[in-house]
Amino acid sequence: MSATPVLAANSVSMVFGGLTALSNVSLRLQEGQILGLIGPNGAGKTTFFNCLTGLYSPTTGNVQLRGQVLPTDPAAVTVAGVARTFQNIRLFPSMTSLENVMVGRHSRMKQGPLASLFHGPAYLKGERDARDRSRELLEFVGLGTVHDELARNLPYGDQRRLEIARALATDPKVLLLDEPTAGMNPQETEATRQLIFAIRETGVAVVVIEHDTKFIFSLCDHVSVLVQGQLLVEGTPDVVRADPRVIEAYLGKPPDEVEAEVRQYAEEAAHGGPESTQVMQPIRDQDGHEGGNR
Ligand SMILES: Nc1ncnc2c1ncn2[C@@H]1O[C@H](COP(=O)(O)OP(=O)(O)OP(=O)(O)O)[C@@H](O)[C@H]1O
Ligand SMILES: [Mg+2]
Repeated sequence: MSATPVLAANSVSMVFGGLTALSNVSLRLQEGQILGLIGPNGAGKTTFFNCLTGLYSPTTGNVQLRGQVLPTDPAAVTVAGVARTFQNIRLFPSMTSLENVMVGRHSRMKQGPLASLFHGPAYLKGERDARDRSRELLEFVGLGTVHDELARNLPYGDQRRLEIARALATDPKVLLLDEPTAGMNPQETEATRQLIFAIRETGVAVVVIEHDTKFIFSLCDHVSVLVQGQLLVEGTPDVVRADPRVIEAYLGKPPDEVEAEVRQYAEEAAHGGPESTQVMQPIRDQDGHEGGNR
């Protein structure tokens, strides 16, 4: 038997009124693993992340972190060690990059209300440490030059990286990324792939939702395919992309074609990345508040 998984979802179901968005979905994420979650639009991928992070209370089933059942309270889940990014970016647009990351860091700070009221030495040291760690994280995700830039002025790809830095600031054991490369050009996508490898090297296990299957198959150790709220197939990238059920329900092309695409992608990445085809646009309409993203 393998070791206790860092994250386990046990027969999670989620029913909204008459709609079953998830039906008995289980997942085992091992320490050091990068797990891909793929499936058509509306398959239930984001709903599953919402169940993993306590935003939704599953209709049945539960989620365990290193063997302990997690509460259905997002703040408590963050403190326990599960961090995430959102499909629709949720930054504080009128705060700087550094301040956005410091918000994540504050979930780890222990000062009570009196310390923050009187700005005593413990509070000031905590703030200084949070600032230093947040700076380090901005460097780590490749945003070392934009500490003081307002989040709303950053290009789209940088906003996604900033969300990752903020999530990492909570010192997670598990990081959940919901479409981290959506809207990115090929160079940014490749930089994000390398960033996820680097995050794994720091001891954080990662679950990634993405529609870009070349990205998923060239990144992940294990892939789970969700279709209509059910786990259709799971296994290594080789097993999953060759499975006729996955080809029929999602990939729509034969395994040798998918494999050739993944090989070409990896070769291009090794030679400096694929050609750019898209131009990033800044997002200016984020309100930074909760809501609006399932
Ligand atoms: N809060 C909610 N109330 C009612 N229905 C919901 C809610 N959240 C999600 N759903 C429904 O659950 C199903 C799964 O949606 P979900 O957003 O999880 O899919 P997804 O796999 O993330 O899709 P996409 O790839 O488009 O992001 C959809 O039918 C959606 O309309
Ligand atoms: Mg989604």
